[in-house]
Amino acid sequence: MLTRWRAETPGTAHRIHLNNAGASLMPAPVHTAIVDHLRLESEIGGYEAAEVCAEAIATGYEDLAALLGTRPRNIAVVANATAGFVQALSSFDFAPGDVIVTSRCDYTSNQIQYLALRDRLGIEIVHAPDLPEGGIDPDGLRAAIVAAQGRARCRLVALSWIPTNSGLVQDVEAAGAVCESLGIPFLVDACQAVGQVPISVSRVRCDFLSTTARKFLRGPRGIGFMYVSDRALARGDYPLFVDMRGARWIAESTFELTETASRYEDWEFPYALVMGQAAAARYALEVGVETAQARSWALAARLRHGLETIPGVRVLDRGAVRCAIVTMAVEGGRTRGLVPFLTARQINTSLSVSDYGRYDFGDKAVDEAVRLSPHYYNTEAEVDAAIATVAEFAGQ
Ligand SMILES: Cc1ncc(COP(=O)(O)O)c(C=O)c1O
Repeated sequence: MLTRWRAETPGTAHRIHLNNAGASLMPAPVHTAIVDHLRLESEIGGYEAAEVCAEAIATGYEDLAALLGTRPRNIAVVANATAGFVQALSSFDFAPGDVIVTSRCDYTSNQIQYLALRDRLGIEIVHAPDLPEGGIDPDGLRAAIVAAQGRARCRLVALSWIPTNSGLVQDVEAAGAVCESLGIPFLVDACQAVGQVPISVSRVRCDFLSTTARKFLRGPRGIGFMYVSDRALARGDYPLFVDMRGARWIAESTFELTETASRYEDWEFPYALVMGQAAAARYALEVGVETAQARSWALAARLRHGLETIPGVRVLDRGAVRCAIVTMAVEGGRTRGLVPFLTARQINTSLSVSDYGRYDFGDKAVDEAVRLSPHYYNTEAEVDAAIATVAEFAGQ
């Protein structure tokens, strides 16, 4: 299979791509789906192309739904993970004093949005405590919600399943169970989870989940999708700025929401990317997310193990469960220089800075980290080459 995956991933011929947490290399069927649709649009017209492909577009929703263990009616296609996340956030008409409970490792933009809501609407943000080994403490989460309820209205728990800047995997199922038992809506940012972790939204018990195409799903940039639960739909939740795809203007002073998660979509879509995202979902289902997880996590474990043996290198990942994201620092303030050193040797990685995770970087007492994120199509030899190159850099 590895030979086939690599043959279908032309980029592997030129690069050791260990930046799948940034944007993965698209496999050929994804590229083809996008280019074919763009060509069709140029030949027959954009609206006409969408109509010709209506069935394929509908099938795409089935594939996205299958990835999350849900139904097409619960899927909304959105511009990116952040767009889906804010669509969900905007469903809650927060009032002064309301509380959002979140984690110390939630995604950068989410943390900024919580703070903006605090400043604009007067809500309170509570960060649930971590376990000693890292990762949200489910009992601490429960206590934080109960304490918030004692003084105000706890409106929402929001949690990033896998943060952008470390290999931590949050126990979302435990958090979901806490939320459900206390009747608090649960919003999950699964941006780094989709494509590397098998997902069943019924086990997570979330009301909303947001994600993007370009990371471990191996889709294109500039597109994503979200899950909206039957519970949220039945509650009548809808985004603050619902548009004519999400609702019908049925009389001069009345609008009516669509019945499905499409109420979270915008009318205008980049259909070529919609097709590309669907192709990526299909490809992931064919590879098998369990296979992707087993291989990518094993490669990451090998990488961590190798890096840990290099003098002057510190592996930063914490938590009981660690995924295909590996983060490390080089002592002597030399972390930043490692990324271009690797790039010059055709090894793609990325730099994380303390802005990306104030609490996490603070806890680890580092300002910068290099993120290396293998996927199932990478090889042991590529991982070993990366380890050797880091050792060369650290030894200088
Ligand atoms: C955990 C997490 N959430 C959300 C995002 C944002 O995704 P997007 O850029 O598609 O909005 C990222 C991007 O790196 C991420 O790592």
